[in-house]
Amino acid sequence: MKKGLLIFGSITAGVGTAAAGSMAYFKKKGICPRCEAKKAISKIKQNYVNDFPYDNGTCLTPPMGWSSWNCFRNKINENIILDIAKAIKASGLAEAGYVYVNLDDCWQSSMRDENGRLQGDLGTFPHGIKHLAEKINSLGLKLGIYSSNGTLTCEDLPASLNHEKIDADTFAEWGIEYFKYDFCHNVPLPTAAPYIDSIAISGNGIEDELVYKAADAALSGEAKAVYEDNGNSYVKGLCSGIGTVTFNDVEVPKAGNYVFTLVMKKYDSDAKYCVATVNGADKYEILIPECKAYSRDGRHQIKIDLKKGKNVISITNPVGSPQDSAALLYERMGRELKRATKEYAEKNNCDEKKILFSICEWGKNHPWKWGGSAGNIWRTTPDIFANWMSVVGIYETNVKLGKYARPGAFNDPDMLEVGNGNLTFEENKSHFTLWAMMASPLILGNDIRTFIKPDGTVDKDSRVLQILTNKDIIGIDQDVLGIQCKRVKTNVITDILVKPLASNEVALCFFNKGLGKAKMSYTVDEIRNIVDVTLPKSSKYACKELWSGEITETENVISAEVPSHGVAVWKISALTE
Ligand code: GAL
Repeated sequence: MKKGLLIFGSITAGVGTAAAGSMAYFKKKGICPRCEAKKAISKIKQNYVNDFPYDNGTCLTPPMGWSSWNCFRNKINENIILDIAKAIKASGLAEAGYVYVNLDDCWQSSMRDENGRLQGDLGTFPHGIKHLAEKINSLGLKLGIYSSNGTLTCEDLPASLNHEKIDADTFAEWGIEYFKYDFCHNVPLPTAAPYIDSIAISGNGIEDELVYKAADAALSGEAKAVYEDNGNSYVKGLCSGIGTVTFNDVEVPKAGNYVFTLVMKKYDSDAKYCVATVNGADKYEILIPECKAYSRDGRHQIKIDLKKGKNVISITNPVGSPQDSAALLYERMGRELKRATKEYAEKNNCDEKKILFSICEWGKNHPWKWGGSAGNIWRTTPDIFANWMSVVGIYETNVKLGKYARPGAFNDPDMLEVGNGNLTFEENKSHFTLWAMMASPLILGNDIRTFIKPDGTVDKDSRVLQILTNKDIIGIDQDVLGIQCKRVKTNVITDILVKPLASNEVALCFFNKGLGKAKMSYTVDEIRNIVDVTLPKSSKYACKELWSGEITETENVISAEVPSHGVAVWKISALTE
């Protein structure tokens, strides 16, 4: 950024000599002015695009479960988690659809084990996480786990950046089925790319390295071949997605796994990054650490799969902005999770336990734009807290992102605070309803043990439990179309939400954000004009209000007096004459 500002400083000064001086300075320092300028203006842009949906077969409707964070924070242990799981079962929550029991931050020891694997806190999870997963599974529930896309978690415990493979393998081996991946201590990928002299292929029976000069390869965008007086050549201009070098004729005698050597010219000490795409499909990341550059030449090796005969390998650094870095780093973990569960099942000849991948970078890098290619759900906002301002603030952001949701990929406005803090009965109902209308994950955040009375029976009078087990509201959330509601009317006091449902039905919600009662109304004619709504034309409609259970009939108008901070919500279907 500092370097970028320097460029603009010299341009705006408009002094020819100063600009020429800067150019000489950049050249000496090996700085690519175009890359730096692009970096500066693309702070909020996404350069890297992946059109392939993540689609790992999980999360066809929003996930339902419980997480330890909102209620227990860093004070968790095996007994609490098992007691919660038992209470989920006993209270009827499991039957209502809440299946995931998710360990959030602080399940892990600050020490990796002797094989470099994450392990549970040795004091608070004495029997290990695999044992816990087995216990949770024996209750018919699934265990979820947490790490960060950084060097440490938000509670400063070991995390998974650059440990993606081993951690994904560990989770698969433990039988984890939900993985929340935070963003604390993240280290962004470099926007700089190496200068490439050549690529070399070896191993798999090849005696002499097959060498392909970059200057002889196909260059596109800003990629340029540089020829030095001493006869050396290299290709530059691959940074920030501005250029690509493509080797069209990398020929090997048989299909297999080869050593790929990137022969580069070092030009400064910064870390470099690029992605090699083989035959348009397989992507290999190449991360070159900071260097001393004592020698100008360097060799960086990775293993790649090639097919028999000619292969096409193209190389560029797609990272032009923080968004690009986040998208690529989340994709990396998603890829490893898919690989790990598949490999574990194959090796152990058992059914694959797929892992639902929950991206949690707080909406910072607009994950709704790339989350569906990297994982299953993505947090859209900073953390929720157990107060009304927080709930409404989060709703206001998330409600606008409906177009990004679909089965297998949902916006995540954070875990529920129903039953926590000082939310009133009306506010708890509204919070739950809004999350269901927005096709959000329903991950409970309260102490489920309180639903079980000292004599072991269920507290059926608990109004919080009644809210969380309202089958009709859950049904709105879990509707198989997986469409998030549209906010069809809004002002500072009231909102009207419409969510298309399967079987040509629709959910309508009036939300009163104000401090007094609000009279609200909407019509079936208006609903029928909304995109995706397939409610048929009829002379009469049945409207079931989902908190009172009352069913009324209407020809067109639906109206209600909605209490302060409250909702009225209906499922509407056409009545056949
Ligand atoms: C935050 C995250 C929370 C919780 C916490 C744990 O970044 O948004 O939901 O996971 O970290 O430290």
